[in-house]
Amino acid sequence: MALRMAVLLSGGGTTLQNLIDHIQAGDLAAEVACVIGSREKAFGLERARNHHIPAIAVIPRNYPDNAAFNAALWNEVRKYSPGLVVLAGFMSLLTVPEDFRHRIMNVHPALIPAFCGKGMYGHHVHEAVLAYGAKLSGATVHFVDEEYDSGPIVMQASVPVLEGDTPDTLAERVQAKEREIFPKAIQLFAEGRLRVEGRIVRVR
Ligand code: GAR
Repeated sequence: MALRMAVLLSGGGTTLQNLIDHIQAGDLAAEVACVIGSREKAFGLERARNHHIPAIAVIPRNYPDNAAFNAALWNEVRKYSPGLVVLAGFMSLLTVPEDFRHRIMNVHPALIPAFCGKGMYGHHVHEAVLAYGAKLSGATVHFVDEEYDSGPIVMQASVPVLEGDTPDTLAERVQAKEREIFPKAIQLFAEGRLRVEGRIVRVR
């Protein structure tokens, strides 16, 4: 049976679209059971609806605090009984219920543990890489724990930082790697080939 995924996002949803494309191409044995957006206008919700995927907005500012927001969010997620929760450009801090430990995956646009943590998302990451003068960047797929970008690493791929790069040109190169490794990592999960030992992820 295909892996059921709940996809959480806050923005344009190109990451979601890539997963849908891989499912349709037959190289990702999964289905998107629902998409939950933390912004009403997130275009990712529209993409989901275009593919007849249930799409719901759960907005942080509608709740008194992060705990109440997370309670509402997980209540929605659980309705769809996903095997894996996928963060696809999701910009709010999640709590991790015990039964979802090592069942939430995120893609980050840098080589963790560099250029990650609170405030390091989207273009901020690429600006920081360029300002630091790093010669390599890349993409990281990791399991999610209670802190930003700190859970066990599943897969990484590097790209060169080139002379004359702007945040946009670097983002483009990094996102091409994200589009490669995120579906691969999820497919390994779907095949039951990932085992987490402490913070080390073993691939069988
Ligand atoms: C992706 O590039 C992803 O790496 C980044 O947000 C973008 C989402 O794009 N995620 C983070 O920075 C997480 N810390 P999308 O909304 O078009 O899928």
